[in-house]
Amino acid sequence: KIVPVILSGGTGSRLWPVSRASFPKQLWPLLTNNSMLQDTALRAVGSMFTDPIIVCNNDHRFLIAEQLREIGIEKARILLEPIGRNSAPAIAAASMLVAQENPNYILWVMAADAVVQETELLIELVKEAAILAQKEKILTFGIHPTRPETGYGYIEKGQKLSEAEHAFFVKAFTEKPDYQRAVHMIESGNYLWNSGMFVFSAQTMLREMEKYTPELLSLIQIAIKNRKTDLYFERIQLEDFVNIPDISIDYAIAEKTEQMLVIAADLTWSDIGSWDGLWDISPKDKVGNVAIGNVFLENTHNSYVRSDDMVAAVSGLDDVVVVVTKDAVLVTDRRKSQEVKKIVERLITAK
Ligand code: GDD
Ligand code: MG
Repeated sequence: KIVPVILSGGTGSRLWPVSRASFPKQLWPLLTNNSMLQDTALRAVGSMFTDPIIVCNNDHRFLIAEQLREIGIEKARILLEPIGRNSAPAIAAASMLVAQENPNYILWVMAADAVVQETELLIELVKEAAILAQKEKILTFGIHPTRPETGYGYIEKGQKLSEAEHAFFVKAFTEKPDYQRAVHMIESGNYLWNSGMFVFSAQTMLREMEKYTPELLSLIQIAIKNRKTDLYFERIQLEDFVNIPDISIDYAIAEKTEQMLVIAADLTWSDIGSWDGLWDISPKDKVGNVAIGNVFLENTHNSYVRSDDMVAAVSGLDDVVVVVTKDAVLVTDRRKSQEVKKIVERLITAK
């Protein structure tokens, strides 16, 4: 069986002002009637899988437990982090929990903020990945890139594995390149986007972490040992987490490991990381606009405009994002919507 692990710790700052630290994007129904967390959890239900492990922030425990109950998942293990330290510590912690049961178990790590349309195909690919993961490989799922997105990781595809249908060696992994490099990589045609899903055995991940981030691993070991478990939650203690480095799995492991393989996945996938990403995957009108809520558009194209309450009118602009909430308004160039993050950082420090 495969252990689904869902990372739900991000605050989704690029989707401000809808996504907030107290109610992050993955808990909102942005595309379907379910939240992205619920849709993610539902992908890994069935005889192939154990109950999932969710790694999330302590502040979201009730929201998350309730959202899981709503979709009939009653027995998830919910591991609570007192503070966010990015995806590497979260994956280390999940790998350790699983290794305590059996180091050979296979984990399927998923981000809670991605949308995949072809669930059946995805499950087939996960099966293929799980077989390779038993041979000490770390599998990632590569998506054919469609634009020079700077918010993703890029995987340079090497030779195809002879014994597998969709798996390739990885020549290089580049996390969040700058725009020029992204353009160059797209043009070369040899790169795939990292979908942020990984399949590996608990012991393979722990071994790679021992090699590339030993201090992180030993701190996580202590944090897992000291965690407090009750009926619903497993809580990591703050004093065990404050000194943990803030680093993503992409920088900590993916860019460094030699065990990585990529499954070239013909999936309709999107990380709903930015307004541009959400625009990309949302149904659009004839002139490329996504208009949600109380919105009026005139001579406006390829734009994302959302207002739940107040009237939002946009006239004579192309490629913009306008998002109106009760207490904040965002206006940005759609193609620069990654930079919303910087505004949010300034808002936090200004507080
Ligand atoms: N538990 C936990 N704790 N989860 C976290 C934390 C944390 O401190 N920080 C982030 N996560 C979760 C997020 O909720 C998300 O599900 C996942 O880890 C990835 O984090 P993001 O912050 O969304 O990363 P990203 O989108 O910038 O980049 C990653 O995903 C891209 C595709 O979606 C990278 O893996 C890229 O290489 C990749 O292309
Ligand atoms: Mg993301």
